[in-house]
Amino acid sequence: MNNNSKHTENSSGPLIDKFNRKIDYLRISITDKCNLKCVYCTPEKALKHFNTSEILTDDEIIRFVKVAHRHGLSKVRITGGEPLLRKNITGLISAIRDIGIHDLSLTTNGLMLASLVGKLKDAGLTRVNISLDTLDADRYKVITRGGNIALVWKAIKAAESAGLTPVKINIVPIKGINDHEVEAFAALTIDNNYHIRFIEFMPAVTGGIWASDKYVKSGQILKKISALGNLEPFKFRGTGPSRNFRLKGAKGVIGIISPLSDHFCKHCNRLRLTANGRLRPCLFSKETIDIKTPLRNGISDDQLERLFLQSVKAKPKGHGLKDKQIRSSPISTMSEIGG
Ligand code: 5AD
Repeated sequence: MNNNSKHTENSSGPLIDKFNRKIDYLRISITDKCNLKCVYCTPEKALKHFNTSEILTDDEIIRFVKVAHRHGLSKVRITGGEPLLRKNITGLISAIRDIGIHDLSLTTNGLMLASLVGKLKDAGLTRVNISLDTLDADRYKVITRGGNIALVWKAIKAAESAGLTPVKINIVPIKGINDHEVEAFAALTIDNNYHIRFIEFMPAVTGGIWASDKYVKSGQILKKISALGNLEPFKFRGTGPSRNFRLKGAKGVIGIISPLSDHFCKHCNRLRLTANGRLRPCLFSKETIDIKTPLRNGISDDQLERLFLQSVKAKPKGHGLKDKQIRSSPISTMSEIGG
């Protein structure tokens, strides 16, 4: 047992890291493959993907979640790549739900979601985040390098009808690409109970399109949105890095996620598990903890628990993205880690 954390064995209480952050949230990337190639997420040149044998199996993922759940893990998000490309996604979700994870969400591009919502909901999924960076069909094709926006809207409506709500929509505003659509996205919250989440563009792809003059600071985003009306702070469950607001009288919520311009890390409540079985204490960690090899070498639950606690202990105070060095050698691709 790690004596660096204020936490006792068998406690269902939260795990507190050395910077006094409650770590109760795990993001699990279940595949590094995606059926889109968004310009801000993936390099144009084809990526080399993991072999199937390199990817954690359902049983390996489930075993790890069980161990983490014993230490207060209460919230899981399934990401990718595109997680709906994985076989048996509903089986995996119901197994995670059966462990006792009742806040169970998924981030998807939505292309394959519409026909799956019923099964996912029955399996225990509580919510979805759908990536949508433009409201314009042609621009959507350009940003995603080929996607069909009609499928995304179908997915949004299907998720709403199935009660996978509130539907959260992620947009990464990028100067000269979609930053003129910020107001239109925010206006969607007036009549719809969507959570529109504006995420600052991060330098996350080696050789990608990120440049300091391309990212739109959250202050600028808020300024644009303020033109639509008064923004009131809105308290939504949880303590994650999103700052939430509501336009006066609106049905939905506006979330601002500022990894670059704000005190984002202070509220970090999460760990990441990559598709190939590495615990990543921070999105931008250079060092990761391999759990796949030990799992395949017959590790005990106690040893697995130690690796989990070690990754909490390794969480840095901040991501260091303000350092020039990190900006110039970012993580190779977001699709492997799951955003
Ligand atoms: N900057 C910010 N967010 C990103 N995502 C992917 N790449 C980036 C990036 N470079 C996020 C988007 C998307 C989710 C899957 O990952 O929010 O919706």
